[in-house]
Amino acid sequence: MRAELILARGRIRTLGRAGLNPQSHLAIAGGKVLASGGREVMGLRGPRTRVVDLGGAVLDQPGYDLTGVVVGSEGLLGVVTEVVLRILRKAEATRTFFATFPSTTEAGNAVSAGVPSGFDKVIEDNANRMVREGRQTFRFDTFGDEAFWGDALQLHKAIAGEKHGGVGGGVSPKTALSVGLKVDVGALPPALQEQLKAGKVDLDDPATTLALLKLNAVVGVTGFFDARGSIRSIGLQCAFCHSTVDDALAPGIGRRLDGWANRDLNVGAIVSLAPNLKPFTDLLGVDLATVKAVLASWGPGRFDAELDKDGKALRPDGKQAGTLLPPAFGLAGVNLHTWTGFGSVTYWNAYVGATEMHGSGTFFDARLSNGDQYPVAARSGSGNTRGVPDRLTAKLAALHFYQLSIPAPKALVGSFSAAAASRGKALFDGRARCASCHVPPLFTEPGNNLHAPAEIGVDAFQADRSPTHMYRTAPLAGLWTHQKGGFYHDGRFATLLDVVAHYDTFFKLSLSDQEKKDLVEYLKGL
Ligand code: HEC
Ligand code: HEC
Repeated sequence: MRAELILARGRIRTLGRAGLNPQSHLAIAGGKVLASGGREVMGLRGPRTRVVDLGGAVLDQPGYDLTGVVVGSEGLLGVVTEVVLRILRKAEATRTFFATFPSTTEAGNAVSAGVPSGFDKVIEDNANRMVREGRQTFRFDTFGDEAFWGDALQLHKAIAGEKHGGVGGGVSPKTALSVGLKVDVGALPPALQEQLKAGKVDLDDPATTLALLKLNAVVGVTGFFDARGSIRSIGLQCAFCHSTVDDALAPGIGRRLDGWANRDLNVGAIVSLAPNLKPFTDLLGVDLATVKAVLASWGPGRFDAELDKDGKALRPDGKQAGTLLPPAFGLAGVNLHTWTGFGSVTYWNAYVGATEMHGSGTFFDARLSNGDQYPVAARSGSGNTRGVPDRLTAKLAALHFYQLSIPAPKALVGSFSAAAASRGKALFDGRARCASCHVPPLFTEPGNNLHAPAEIGVDAFQADRSPTHMYRTAPLAGLWTHQKGGFYHDGRFATLLDVVAHYDTFFKLSLSDQEKKDLVEYLKGL
């Protein structure tokens, strides 16, 4: 038999019993390899044989055939569940140079120095994996909390509306956006994005909301659907409160911004939609009207993460008792978290996951069994929550890691006056003494970053709801992203100028109006 094609004078490797055999010639006929070897393969040449002279080049297949990795002669060997594609940036420039080394070992070391190997590589691979897994958890993991938000509160029924097997009129995308829910454009098929841009999607129809939930496009909210496509439950994630979008496509519809506080989100209004609020009335021992009034009191950008522990629905002065949703970025290097320093990031994640989101998991803090400070928690035992199965604990490490990986976003050039900011910086670090507590570049104290209410001139209400009875020095980087809703834990200061004016009075700084403005410009640029 004559070859149809001979690949000649190449660098070809074929797999033999003893491993890879280097060859120079390959003869092919009928789609099969006739022979491989050296120049003797040319003996298979006939009158119609095409000969391709490779001229010493390496013969490689276009792309890789991975069949052999998962399929063997005995059948299926494995299933690929995750593929990590590492895209390395192409070098902007390359330069060739000569270097001489006294030994080949040293030459080898110099080459491998830039490439992690051994345990260093184990560490780097682990870091990459933790970020990926943590992001997934932050965005999509409900820890099984659909048992609470869906199965118990029936929130999905209010969203679906009567027409789609729920109750009431349903929640249209327009309503959902108006209470601050965000849509992840990355989850929308391109055709739908085009239709949205062209205004061809019905944003008044709850069916559209359900379609968005099916696409997993509502940030921080997961719908669970039955085999017939009807919504059967709903769960919440961290991203619900701690992510927003960049409005790339339309207001409320854009690319995810993880860690940015969603100050548009009206948590109270959303929870209030639930047809069954009995879990709250039972826990707090109050009637439905009271629960509804409390949920309505928070307003956009606020939530009360202590209500179900201490039962304090309102401040003694009658004002709402929720706190602002804080940013969840720029937290690496910061010791204590939450406005009142309850604990570390991972402490708080367990607290939220198990007791606020009502996921199924473990959370332990004996401080919450103090019945004087936490009468509700002491009754409910939430300070020793042991959800079975535990869907939270195994996620905490990567979730922690991911949060510490989110940097505070830099302010946009032009969004503040650079000249004023540099004068403001001098004041911040100097005469105004801000940097004594907000130590740059963390803008909180390394160490036990807490202060008594009297040290910063505010009342103790929220501090006293924490085991610390203190306020945590707020890390200020990325402040510009959360100016909506005000400043300090409850948003009591509407603007940065109000914050500075407070410090000016309280610390008797005697700042001029210009100096106050300069400080504000500096804060806007952090
Ligand atoms: C319903 C809204 C909501 C959800 C959902 C939520 N959080 Fe929070 N988060 C808050 C509020 C409000 C605070 C401030 C609590 C306080 O100071 O008492 C907070 C505080 C935090 C902090 C402290 C930030 C700082 O300034 O140090 C971190 C970290 C955090 N949350 C992470 C998470 C993670 C991770 C999840 C998911 C497991 C989550 N949160 C789910 C509302 C929420
Ligand atoms: C004694 C320590 C201390 C000093 C001095 C101090 N701060 Fe603060 N700062 C805090 C604490 C604690 C908080 C958190 C208050 C709260 O959560 O209610 C805070 C909060 C803030 C906030 C609000 C952050 C947010 O996310 O809402 C800003 C802005 C701020 N400080 C700026 C300044 C400036 C400007 C100065 C100097 C004029 C200054 N601070 C001096 C301790 C201090």
